[in-house]
Amino acid sequence: MIILTSTLGLEGAVALEVKNYGYRITHSESGKVFVNADYQDIPFMNIHMRSAERVLFVVGRFTAKSFDELYDGMKSLDWSFIPDGSKVWIAKARSVSSKLFAERSIQSVAMKAVASSLKIGDGAKYPIFINIRKDEVVVAVDSTGEKGLHIRGYRKKYSKAPLRETIAASLLILARYKKGNLIDPFCGSGTIPIEAAMMAKNIAPGIKRNFISEIWMDLENIYKELREKALNEIKDFDPSITCSDIDENILKVARENAKRAGIKIEILKRDFRKMRCEGKGKIITNPPYGKRMEGIWRDFRKLFQNCTEWEKHFVSPFKNIYKIVGKAPDKSIPFFNSGIKVFFHQYYRI
Ligand SMILES: C[S@@+](CC[C@H](N)C(=O)[O-])C[C@H]1O[C@@H](n2cnc3c(N)ncnc32)[C@H](O)[C@@H]1O
Repeated sequence: MIILTSTLGLEGAVALEVKNYGYRITHSESGKVFVNADYQDIPFMNIHMRSAERVLFVVGRFTAKSFDELYDGMKSLDWSFIPDGSKVWIAKARSVSSKLFAERSIQSVAMKAVASSLKIGDGAKYPIFINIRKDEVVVAVDSTGEKGLHIRGYRKKYSKAPLRETIAASLLILARYKKGNLIDPFCGSGTIPIEAAMMAKNIAPGIKRNFISEIWMDLENIYKELREKALNEIKDFDPSITCSDIDENILKVARENAKRAGIKIEILKRDFRKMRCEGKGKIITNPPYGKRMEGIWRDFRKLFQNCTEWEKHFVSPFKNIYKIVGKAPDKSIPFFNSGIKVFFHQYYRI
């Protein structure tokens, strides 16, 4: 079993993506998607998943209402996939609605049990995550590492309010973007258009970075083979994607990011009010919110008037968006972006 962690509210995107790869989901809960997958699937998930934040390998689950039961439960798990001499520690312990709630004590009892099952050293790293919910303990090892999957390796500089790469990918997946025409009229440092172009060109998001599990038992060769395969599967194709923004300085960052990501998109300075759309396609965007939104939402209707033939998918802090654009969305998905509750409004019908 593998748990893919996600941004709160965007579990649906992770589920959709992993199902597309042919995996079966057992269930989802807030921030987590449980996938029927094996230890050997870890490299594929880390290299290919665009929307997930982390890949956790589940060691096992059991019920514990006392520290004795926690200790015994931890000891009863099969730790044989971790070789002697590895560095193993409890990186996180969370508990909700359970008899055991003192997270520090959970951490220390669990660690004692692990230390008595394994010879711990300073070798390959295995950070353990413990999650207790209604006395049900789930023990997993993080296979991604210190940096979450949102770190792709192409972004060095940030805009004022950059979207996480994993969130941008989630929005694209929810908008069913594959490779067609796309415009982001508030593109900032270009995260949405760059992620879209990577999808269209079939560039695996994890191709340029390393993961903590690269040197885990039996995984080294799988990582190597998957990377080579992914490199060979990159398509020689430049999708029709436009990234526009009013701020020239941030567009410079978008240009640098696009270059590092190995993709070609049109990047231009433009006020969204001047935007025109030809043909058909999808507008997928993350306009300013909070203090920076002055005037934007007042004129937002212009996007609808100027681009009648295009689908519109955008993030907004406003739930009742029909009051602004004069039309109810086909779908609205609430999620948390940097701790702010926002909505991904989707207009499929044109
Ligand atoms: C929330 S940020 C977008 C961040 C972007 N998704 C990223 O990952 O970097 C909103 C962007 O809207 C741009 N913006 C503000 N007013 C605009 C306008 N009138 N026309 C076009 N872009 C505008 C800002 O310069 C800012 O880059």
